[in-house]
Amino acid sequence: MSDKTFYITTPIYYPSDKLHIGHALTTTMADTLARYKKMQGYDTFFLTGSDEHGQKIERRAKEAGLMPKDFVDRIVASFKQLWRALDINYSDFIRTSDERHRKVVQALFKKIYDQGDIYKSEYEGWYCTPCETFWTERQLKEGLCPDCGRPVELLKEESYFFKMSKYADRLVDYIESHPDFIQPATRKNEMLQFIKQGLEDLCVSRTTFNWGIPVPIDEKHVIYVWFDALTNYISALGYGTDDPSLFEKYWPHAVHLVGKDIMRFHTIIWPIILMAAGIELPKKVFGHGWLLVDGSKMSKSKGNVVDPLVLIDQYGSDAIRYFLLREMPYGSDGYYSDEALILRINTDLANDYGNLLSRTTSMLNKFCQGIIPEPGQAEPIDEDLKVIAKGLPKQVDEALNNFEFSAALAAIWKLINKANKYIEETAPWALAKDPAKEKRLHTVMYNLVEAIRISTVYITPFMPNTPAKVWAQLGLSEQPEVQTWESILEWGGTPTGIKINRGEPIFPRIEVKEAGSESPAAGKVKEEKKVEETKKEHPQVKDDNANVISIDDFAKVELRVAEVIEAKKVEKADKLLELKVRIGEEERTIVAGIALHYAPEELVGKKIVVVYNLKPAKLRGITSQGMLLAASLGDKLSILTVDKDVPSGAKVK
Ligand code: MSP
Repeated sequence: MSDKTFYITTPIYYPSDKLHIGHALTTTMADTLARYKKMQGYDTFFLTGSDEHGQKIERRAKEAGLMPKDFVDRIVASFKQLWRALDINYSDFIRTSDERHRKVVQALFKKIYDQGDIYKSEYEGWYCTPCETFWTERQLKEGLCPDCGRPVELLKEESYFFKMSKYADRLVDYIESHPDFIQPATRKNEMLQFIKQGLEDLCVSRTTFNWGIPVPIDEKHVIYVWFDALTNYISALGYGTDDPSLFEKYWPHAVHLVGKDIMRFHTIIWPIILMAAGIELPKKVFGHGWLLVDGSKMSKSKGNVVDPLVLIDQYGSDAIRYFLLREMPYGSDGYYSDEALILRINTDLANDYGNLLSRTTSMLNKFCQGIIPEPGQAEPIDEDLKVIAKGLPKQVDEALNNFEFSAALAAIWKLINKANKYIEETAPWALAKDPAKEKRLHTVMYNLVEAIRISTVYITPFMPNTPAKVWAQLGLSEQPEVQTWESILEWGGTPTGIKINRGEPIFPRIEVKEAGSESPAAGKVKEEKKVEETKKEHPQVKDDNANVISIDDFAKVELRVAEVIEAKKVEKADKLLELKVRIGEEERTIVAGIALHYAPEELVGKKIVVVYNLKPAKLRGITSQGMLLAASLGDKLSILTVDKDVPSGAKVK
């Protein structure tokens, strides 16, 4: 069997409502990996779908006056519409209401029942209908559902149980002997701890609702949620049917992407079902963090649900995909805000990438008659660019194989940023003035096109629409051989003598309208009114406008949480400490005048607050990239830290 086979799945989503931007995250990750592997010549299968059964959907359908199937049909149509808009190129969409799925679930259930690993008993527990979960007395929080906080009801019913406990030791052995199985490693440890506490047998049937797959040996019961849902990953491949060819080919290469909340189901229940059925386990399960809005999970009641279709409409699918993949830190939670999205678009896409293309094509028109020139005279500085390009295949590959999407993009952006710097360093406009430097000019311009070509191939799986625009501008649309993974492994694949077609900016900057700036006059009136209101509410505010700032002024200062990873004294400066801090994935150096108040070792590991967008300044020859916040009065000084453990990089506002 070829090693170059790849099977990637997303969770199957509940069609109880429209999907939000958090759901779009998992699917974008899966789509990017599938496209990336395809680009590398892998035979790839990408599965997504919908998890349609259960009491909650049955109730929602009833409320809407529809049969459950008609109700879910409408919502599933909206899923597919979203995936089209987001350029999600799945190989198959499985619905748990599909007949092909029912057959496999029933056969699997029967097989496990026949071998004695499913038995009938009675279940009593506290049931949360919205979450479709039974809880034990101990798990409830103040008598309410520990997940959603809503009331629960005590239910008792005859049920079938799956002997999970029988397989617990085997699962622990498997997880410990397959260190890549659960990622990130922190989640692996969490899961191991959970299993080692002891597993209870799992209730796998219900009689309290009808909208589900009947238990094959007892039609009063329907198969309960996880046994039904998880099986989608193999039913879609035809496991146990007359044609198991897809299963045989792809299953040994399975990678499941899921959110952290459903890790337990995928790394405990699912592997045990597979073990009981004698099926090998998936290769990897990766649990990503949540995308939070205003610091919390999206919910209708909080009114903070972000609709990805609206954003795609406004900013385009590639920009949304880029934001999701770039902004999500590895394995932990990320934050959505309109400001963060616009910042990414304006900085990374418009300024860095878009501008590189725009400047290069403009200079090609001005200095090279719009033709990609033959490179001539090389100089050592060219090597800086080539070295970065040379290191990229390994870096990007490692990052993506470890689900570090943001790190992969950061590595690609190093090349883009280096190319922008190369323009400043080589100053093509100066070379163009001197006919004796024509060969050098041609080399520089060639290298710039090559850097754009290479970075564009890399970004293709992340942003599938943008490359076509770049190829059109570079005159390379008809040259598919220079758009491939193989073509970027060596420097110099761009053909010469090609006529370019400079076009519109590929990522126009988003103009951010100041609040209340319909017209400057209207803005001023509003500003004065605000000051008046502030004075009324806070009489201590002096009759001196200079002291009062608007919320927009405050918003200009970007404050972030940073984790101190190293600290040392600055030589010959009694008051200064040099700190190395981590802000999200970035590391920065900050020089702070706190040496009289803190010993360096006291600071390491602390989460502090820093001004993130302060212009860097040199202090004693060290560039300080930000400023930490501290409260001081007289000779007392205390640095600001955060009250709860929020991830570094979190915004402070
Ligand atoms: N139907 C089950 C999955 C069964 S898989 C065999 C389910 N569905 S869901 O629609 O509620 O959630 C699907 C996925 O979306 C989960 O992985 C969940 O973690 C993810 N997300 C839901 N909200 C999210 C965010 N705000 N951010 C990131 N992912 C989020 O669970």
